Amino acid sequence: MKKVLSTMMVLAAAAGFAGAASAQTAQAETKADSKAGGMKVAMCIGCHSIPGYRSSFPEVHNVPMIAGQSSTYIVAALNAYKKGERKHPTMRGIAESLTEQDMADVAAYYEQLGKAAGATEASQREVKAADAAVDALLKKGACVSCHGDNFNKPIDPSYPKVAGQSADYLFVALKSYKTEKNVYIGRSNAIMGGVAKQFSNAELKAMANYLGSLPGDLKVVPQDRFR
Ligand code: HEC
Ligand code: HEC
Repeated sequence: MKKVLSTMMVLAAAAGFAGAASAQTAQAETKADSKAGGMKVAMCIGCHSIPGYRSSFPEVHNVPMIAGQSSTYIVAALNAYKKGERKHPTMRGIAESLTEQDMADVAAYYEQLGKAAGATEASQREVKAADAAVDALLKKGACVSCHGDNFNKPIDPSYPKVAGQSADYLFVALKSYKTEKNVYIGRSNAIMGGVAKQFSNAELKAMANYLGSLPGDLKVVPQDRFR
């Protein structure tokens, strides 16, 4: 984090935010500060704030939308990368560079950013009923019992909103809960492991496509790298 932090200090100073940045450093306990978070996302926006930005690992897919996601889930996900429970190498490296305070701040920032951006075209899509086959899969996995109404109101803030998330990312994520004994791919979350292992990849894909087509709070908010 040292190197990244100092780079960001330089960026912050260049943008005339030096005072705010040092005030933040002086703050002792972990209290989420979305304003401070806005100054710490310089290394996130190159991937998470570019509409249609795609990653090629482990297969080509859209980078997940995180603006509008709950901050509690964002922190949980970042900790899972940091601890290696999620193995994705790039996000692990990034999460390892973040302190608890950094995570709380960037998470608060992205939750807030989703709200501030307001309704998007995607959020105004209709809730389409799933076709019979997909509906049966969703019932078998009891997905809505945790991910909540229209898959956009999880029953616990540490659970993700999945409605409207990029379908190709949802598919990659779902498969990763089934992947074991791979150094670079896999998520060891026990809850979703138990869920995903009941389904074939074709079934996971069908559910991912449906969930991705729903309206939801998640979005990509384009940002200038040097605000
Ligand atoms: C080089 C591109 C890149 C950068 C830079 C990057 N990310 Fe990511 N991020 C990804 C990809 C790709 C994934 C999906 C990883 C996976 O499959 O688990 C991801 C996943 C995530 C997730 C989990 C999303 C979910 O729905 O579970 C969070 C949270 C996240 N990133 C936050 C951040 C934050 C905060 C930063 C900056 C400190 C950041 N990322 C920087 C590419 C990036
Ligand atoms: C018992 C509660 C529960 C049930 C049932 C459940 N989920 Fe989840 N889901 C979770 C939790 C908790 C996570 C976060 C896991 C983690 O930290 O990686 C999650 C994560 C996910 C993710 C990854 C999201 C992201 O942004 O990376 C997807 C996709 C998903 N669930 C889809 C489903 C589908 C589809 C079903 C039904 C077949 C389902 N879930 C059933 C609790 C549940």
